[in-house]
Amino acid sequence: MELFEKVNIGGLSLANRLVKSATLENTATSDGLPTRQTAHFYKRLARGEPGLIITGYAYVHPSGRSYPFQHGADSDAMIECWRPVVDTVHEHGSRIALQIVHGGRQCRPDRNGQTLLAPSRIPNLVYFSLPRKMTSDEITRTIRDFGEAAGRAREAGFDAVQIHAAHGYLISGFLSPLTNRRRDEWGGDPERRSRFLTEVFRTVRSAVGDDFPVMAKMNIHDFVPFGLTPARSFPLACRLARLGLDALEISGGLLENPLAMSRGGAPSAIINRGKRLPVRAYFSSCLAFMRFFQPFRENYFQEYAARLKPDLPIPLILVGGVRSVHGAEQALLSGAADLVSMARPLVREPDLPKKWREGAADRASCTSCNRCLGEIEQGGRLACYQKTDSRRP
Ligand SMILES: Cc1cc2nc3c(=O)[nH]c(=O)nc-3n(C[C@H](O)[C@H](O)[C@H](O)COP(=O)(O)O)c2cc1C
Repeated sequence: MELFEKVNIGGLSLANRLVKSATLENTATSDGLPTRQTAHFYKRLARGEPGLIITGYAYVHPSGRSYPFQHGADSDAMIECWRPVVDTVHEHGSRIALQIVHGGRQCRPDRNGQTLLAPSRIPNLVYFSLPRKMTSDEITRTIRDFGEAAGRAREAGFDAVQIHAAHGYLISGFLSPLTNRRRDEWGGDPERRSRFLTEVFRTVRSAVGDDFPVMAKMNIHDFVPFGLTPARSFPLACRLARLGLDALEISGGLLENPLAMSRGGAPSAIINRGKRLPVRAYFSSCLAFMRFFQPFRENYFQEYAARLKPDLPIPLILVGGVRSVHGAEQALLSGAADLVSMARPLVREPDLPKKWREGAADRASCTSCNRCLGEIEQGGRLACYQKTDSRRP
């Protein structure tokens, strides 16, 4: 299995096995529509010719919006606005999927201006907020929102959708025993905690039809006490595959532990900008702790992928620390993954897939400093903010 060999996801043919993993762009209008900056970002990525590009997470309803310049999939207005972006990507031979999300308890309360919705009232230790427990009606409506958003993605010409069920956002919040303390049909045991995701999947599938690829990104491990672990996530992944999911990207971590998701440097100076001393001390020490116990290494979720893969009958996408041709090919050849995905390296070097294919480079120059993560968290536009003299963490 070679990196630059074709692969098929739910009937969609990809030119190679390299994926651009989702990264929040923060370039939308205040209505969540793509702008010239969005189009520019995707044009540069498409020129690098990865097999598949996954957009940053687009909210399915304004109650699930995390950032003021996040893209939305909540209104039909997005359909015409995304079409030219999608067309540009196609002209370069790549494919593009829209990632859809509801932010749940991880929406920023100050920016969103609405009550935070979550499975249970578990405080958010980053934004110091307390969400409200969703009613059954709100849950049902939100499931419908996911379906409608997916339908819009298909109409806009996207090649696939990816359901964001990772990183502590609403779906992931339902899956995690830490944040889902419900005792009704939406929580109480692993089966009921996974019901929200399976219902979202079924609704999305019926909205887009059987001939349109539906993927998911899901935590294999929350990496927090009482969180989701492989004992529960692996069987769920296999169940989703049996229900008709077309591909699964595995990840880990949540807002309270972001360095599990994007391992590497601790962007404390950026995160602490404008904050008072006790808060700065709190964030600096938390980030230092996370960084120490979760150091960066290449392909850092590969061991989980290798354990899950033999039982998973659909393509597995490995993300997290993919940084070299050799490492990427080793993940494919060892049978741990069917595709490899990169986020930070392609923000820095959108033409990296092409450079790798042509043999002009064999490593990413991204040092995983996480300054991009810090800047978007502060509301900045997605870009590489790596200092020229920064070393690998
Ligand atoms: C700036 C930034 C924005 C991100 N936005 C998203 C997102 O919108 N959706 C998502 O699923 N993951 C998001 N992630 C996580 C990445 O997709 C990826 O899982 C993680 O960074 C590890 O991959 P990497 O080592 O190739 O960067 C983001 C990461 C960064 C650094």
